Amino acid sequence: MTDQHTHPSDLSNGTELPLDEAIIGNCVDVFAELPAESVDLIFADPPYNLQLRQELRRPNNTLVDAVTDAWDQFASFADYDDFTREWLAGCRRVLKKDGSIWVIGSYHNIYRVGAIMQDLGFWFLNDVIWVKTNPMPNFRGVRMTNAHETLIWAAKSERSRYTYNNQAAKSFNEGKQLRSDWTLPLCTGSERLRAGGRKVHSTQKPEALLERVLVVSSRPGDVVLDPFFGSGTTGAVAKRLRRHWIGIEESEEYVAAARSRIAAVVPSLTLDEVVLGNDAKKSGPRLPFRRLVEYGILKSGDTLYFLRDRSRSATVTSSGLLQCGENEGSIHQIARLYTGGSPCNGWDHWYYESPEGGLAVIDDLRRMALAMPVHAPLCEMPKIAIGHTDLFRGEPI
Ligand SMILES: C[S@@+](CC[C@H](N)C(=O)[O-])C[C@H]1O[C@@H](n2cnc3c(N)ncnc32)[C@H](O)[C@@H]1O
Repeated sequence: MTDQHTHPSDLSNGTELPLDEAIIGNCVDVFAELPAESVDLIFADPPYNLQLRQELRRPNNTLVDAVTDAWDQFASFADYDDFTREWLAGCRRVLKKDGSIWVIGSYHNIYRVGAIMQDLGFWFLNDVIWVKTNPMPNFRGVRMTNAHETLIWAAKSERSRYTYNNQAAKSFNEGKQLRSDWTLPLCTGSERLRAGGRKVHSTQKPEALLERVLVVSSRPGDVVLDPFFGSGTTGAVAKRLRRHWIGIEESEEYVAAARSRIAAVVPSLTLDEVVLGNDAKKSGPRLPFRRLVEYGILKSGDTLYFLRDRSRSATVTSSGLLQCGENEGSIHQIARLYTGGSPCNGWDHWYYESPEGGLAVIDDLRRMALAMPVHAPLCEMPKIAIGHTDLFRGEPI
């Protein structure tokens, strides 16, 4: 089976898993071709059924780039429910008995999806609220800004011995038990796939969201399946975290974009350190470096310089790591590339381009982040960032 021609008909009679491949097709058909009880984790981001009846315009009359795609259109709630029942039944068939599933949705669909999941026998573990730091405003002011999505995390059954990596999960909450409200920005900036200036996919999810899902509920080497692959976010993060992935997507255009995106992903430098988030400062209050990206203080694509030396640099990634050539890792790991392997504290060794001019140490940004109210909306935070105005611009989901 080649990466270029994976269609349901290419699948080998349900005996072999097409690992690390994007399959073009309707997930309901593809599920029937896959071996039963063969995947460890499913992440599903199904159509929302947004039921948009008319175009959306901003107060200045410009058109909002909303989700009006054909794949999001259903004739009725009953049609949507039938479709939901079919694909969730397929998920149950391929999920291992100790596997678990995440489904993300908005108020338009998540309640219907949740009821059907329970009817089919899935056992709810958590629902997580993804609080968006930069949601699209309600332009007409006729109701509240819709600033979150809901993720349901469920085991295959009440008896499933599902994976929960408690220690790794804590790395997303400064070493404390991870909470079920996750504050993260929408996928914007250089992480957002674009072609000819337009978004490749209207609902591309942020990699930071998928990183949490995979770190929390899967292990390296596990098989992670996404039946609504879109731009391939799940595959990109799974590859980086050294999980196997399988994507199913009915649009050939999206699959092409996902394949080239994933081909460019470099697996993490040292997985255990990345997963366990060993990037806390030894002295003073602890803060994961990724928090600077989540708060919009640093942005994916920003350049940091080692000890003010402009010839020794690294790039900030969307998930709060640093990339240097082929290598990706924490601020401490990548700093070691420049110290000849000697351990050092990355907070004191990396410098950023300060808006005041010149280079400043990133430990200043750490202290600035620690001074912020943890859950304050970004727009209320001081604009200390390095001129990243697009974080304050609302974008559709
Ligand atoms: C909400 S989007 C997923 C976006 C994705 N999580 C990402 O980050 O890019 C849903 C996707 O499901 C695809 N889709 C809709 N119905 C499908 C079906 N029956 N089988 C496979 N893909 C489908 C659509 O083409 C769309 O790309």
